[in-house]
Amino acid sequence: MSLNIVILAAGKGTRMHSNLPKVLQLLAKKSLIQHVLDTSKSLKPSAITIVTGYKSDLIKSTILDDSILWRFQGEQLGTGHAVQQAIPDLDSDKTLILYGDVPLIKKSDLQELVKNADSGLALMTFVKESPQGYGRIIRNGSKIIAIVEEKDSTDEQKKITEINTGIMAIKTSNLISWLGKLTNKNSQKEFYLTDIVKFAVEDGVSVSSHAARNELSIIGVNSKKELAFIERGLQMNKAEALLEEGVTLMDLNRIDIRGELKCGKDVTIDVGCIFEGTVSLADNVYVKPYCFIKDCDVKENTTIEAYSHIDSSKVGASSRIGPYARFRPGTVLKNNVHIGNFLEVKNSDIAENSKVNHLSYIGDSDLGKNVNVGAGTITCNYDGVNKHRTIIEDEVFIGSNSQLVAPVKIGKGSTVGAGSTITKDIPEKQLSISRSKQINIKGWKKPSKKK
Ligand code: UD1
Ligand code: CA
Repeated sequence: MSLNIVILAAGKGTRMHSNLPKVLQLLAKKSLIQHVLDTSKSLKPSAITIVTGYKSDLIKSTILDDSILWRFQGEQLGTGHAVQQAIPDLDSDKTLILYGDVPLIKKSDLQELVKNADSGLALMTFVKESPQGYGRIIRNGSKIIAIVEEKDSTDEQKKITEINTGIMAIKTSNLISWLGKLTNKNSQKEFYLTDIVKFAVEDGVSVSSHAARNELSIIGVNSKKELAFIERGLQMNKAEALLEEGVTLMDLNRIDIRGELKCGKDVTIDVGCIFEGTVSLADNVYVKPYCFIKDCDVKENTTIEAYSHIDSSKVGASSRIGPYARFRPGTVLKNNVHIGNFLEVKNSDIAENSKVNHLSYIGDSDLGKNVNVGAGTITCNYDGVNKHRTIIEDEVFIGSNSQLVAPVKIGKGSTVGAGSTITKDIPEKQLSISRSKQINIKGWKKPSKKK
């Protein structure tokens, strides 16, 4: 069985009060339409068409995907008119219609819907306590005979709680013939896709349905309020999935996953943490409150203390990071490394058992094993034009408040006296001090206040 998917995304989304078209608004840091697209691709259709109208070029350049067929709907004359634009692309047995603003639609529901379209037409429905605004499913006994839009409905029909989600699957030959019969004789002067239900009944095609299992999955986003609501719902689902896997969350309402978070056994995540991109936390990792972790791999038994900001980095096992540590991209730590508070580390490798515990900047550096870097040490990696590397070999001790002016190499086992500015390489096992000698002046009088 071959499948075409058509995603409707021509609407502006006036109620967002935004310069961005609605389908480019972000949910868990991914655009609404990208959510729909990812689910669409998981069904392995033969083609995906996106119908755009408002800010079409912006949508295309944001999605940037050669496999998509694009169709333009210049004027938004209704959902039926939108699907008509895609007719030239429809060459599969069945066509699945999705909305670009219904981001959490589920693969499993869609698979069943498409299967049910063997009858010729299958509608995704949902029973909603407050169905206002939605098209209602009209049945005669158990048989579906029509969809009536809210604005065209009678008071009696308004009481129906079974609604049309808008998502449907249709035998393509039927769809093309029914699309040709649409008119806009209704209260909104629109070409309603939903009118194909009437044509199916006229043609003796039985209309089947599939009820979506979960309300969140069929919600269309029209406003920032709905976007916020669906974001919380999505995050709650992700939190529950983590709990199910055995992760300990101090508060399932206070975690945000904007991407993919993989966790080993006995991982604990305290409140207020944000995970972006692809993050993996191995067994026994403990993430303390209010950390931001993006595209990172953290090995087992490591603790990330509160308020740490870790971006595009690798953290070894049994390490302790933070509180208030900042890792910029390219930070790679081996096992049992201690990075303390108010540290910035960038594009640097730090080997086993090394410690940088207080108030330092480590940039473009390679630190060996068992290195100890004292408080306030700065690798001066930038000469105003180019970046240079600092190499600190195994067993080096750097005294507090030192500056290492790159390019520079601190030889194995050497020591830098506190307060030194090191501009030349230090050979192995030497002590290097580059500060003026201390003098104590006897009988020194403090200046007195002028009258
Ligand atoms: C539609 C359904 C209604 C259903 C509801 C679910 C019709 C006539 N009505 O109503 O039964 O309960 O969805 O949310 O189909 N779009 C276009 N071009 C257009 C019009 C719409 O691309 O000319 C796109 C929109 O961008 C949106 C989707 O189609 O993604 C649905 O449009 P919307 O205006 O929200 O549909 P409703 O009229 O609310
Ligand atoms: Ca809508």
